[in-house]
Amino acid sequence: MRHLLLTAATIIMTAMPYSVEAQNNPYELPDPLRMEDGRIVRNKRQWINERRPELMEMLRSQMFGREPGADVVPDMHYTVLEESKDAFGGLATRKQVKISFDKEENYYLVLLMYIPNDRKGPVPAFLGPNFKGNHATTTDPAVLLPTPEKLATYAPGYKLEDRNTNGHRWEYEYILKHGYAVATFCYNDVDPDFHDGFHNGIHRLIDGDKPRDGESWATISAWAWGLSRCLDFLETEKAIDAKRVAVIGHSRLGKTSLWAGATDQRFALVISNDSGCSGAAIARRKYGETVEVICRNFPHWFCTNYTAYGGREEKMPWDQHELIAMIAPRPVYVASASEDSWADPVGEYFSLVGAASVYRLFGYDGITDTTVPDVEHPVTVGRMGHHIRRGEHNVRLYDWEQYIRFADRFLKR
Ligand code: GCU
Repeated sequence: MRHLLLTAATIIMTAMPYSVEAQNNPYELPDPLRMEDGRIVRNKRQWINERRPELMEMLRSQMFGREPGADVVPDMHYTVLEESKDAFGGLATRKQVKISFDKEENYYLVLLMYIPNDRKGPVPAFLGPNFKGNHATTTDPAVLLPTPEKLATYAPGYKLEDRNTNGHRWEYEYILKHGYAVATFCYNDVDPDFHDGFHNGIHRLIDGDKPRDGESWATISAWAWGLSRCLDFLETEKAIDAKRVAVIGHSRLGKTSLWAGATDQRFALVISNDSGCSGAAIARRKYGETVEVICRNFPHWFCTNYTAYGGREEKMPWDQHELIAMIAPRPVYVASASEDSWADPVGEYFSLVGAASVYRLFGYDGITDTTVPDVEHPVTVGRMGHHIRRGEHNVRLYDWEQYIRFADRFLKR
């Protein structure tokens, strides 16, 4: 157990199960309810009309960049590539749909869906990007491989992974048996995960050679934009209830699911799995990965204005609890892993605590306990959920068990 002293907004860390070295970095979190002009937000109307837009503007201009809407791809269209009712021995219908962003289909992603066959009416769903290709999420031999042309656009040296190399992260049968559909696409399909000056991926189609500035959208916002386009498609998919879609992501894709949940309020529930620095973890803790390190190692993930905060986290006019607050009043789940100190499990927990006052405005309880829960002691309070899985940076069945339990409260009829 970890004990914290909370004095006003100052948090001082003491005993520590997740770290060897002490984290003696007292910090003061910005109050999500304090407007830039100093006024305090008193009710949800003020939050929705004034404070939330102000914070979104900050996150867009200083961190993720300004994402476009759906209108920049007027030729977006869908092609069913494959569909069969026999997935997993008849448990589910598998559907693979090409979501093309241009007429010529030079820019597209392939959405893999599994939909439980045992259903009465449209079902809720989990939607999340994957790292290594749809075929790497399962043993199912009918899942299409990326074409050689598509593969050639991914990061240099990117190899076709064997099937199922990431299957442990996608507990399809478990999810389906609990009444949920699941949909995924390879994140490289939207924007390859390497820095090429934004000449490839969806940036090429949408921005062309337009000059970039400090607020131009970058790769995480491109992935989040891709999630929204998948949700556009799911709105046309009769077997899935698009009003009950949980967006989920692991690690860099957990940062992405949080940003997708912030920018697209159609997502009914948001899950961050081990999202760490620039995801759920409080930046001011400077524990594990820091803003400086992430901007240096992954310069394409954020807008360039963000680099100004490297080593100056205490000067950030926001912190990551306010990214969580953007999801309010929708249910949000933050998960960590006990060995994942790079992602700062304690800082991930405290972003929930820091966002609770915003959930309160909407009449919902949130997580406010300043003692970090023990490993594998999941906590749900109001519309917030949290756990720390024992083990490494990853997604495991244990995580899915908690996500389903949490989602059942909100997405089941
Ligand atoms: C690196 C990076 C993290 C990121 C992770 C991942 O470790 O530093 O910020 O979350 O990769 O995406 O797996």
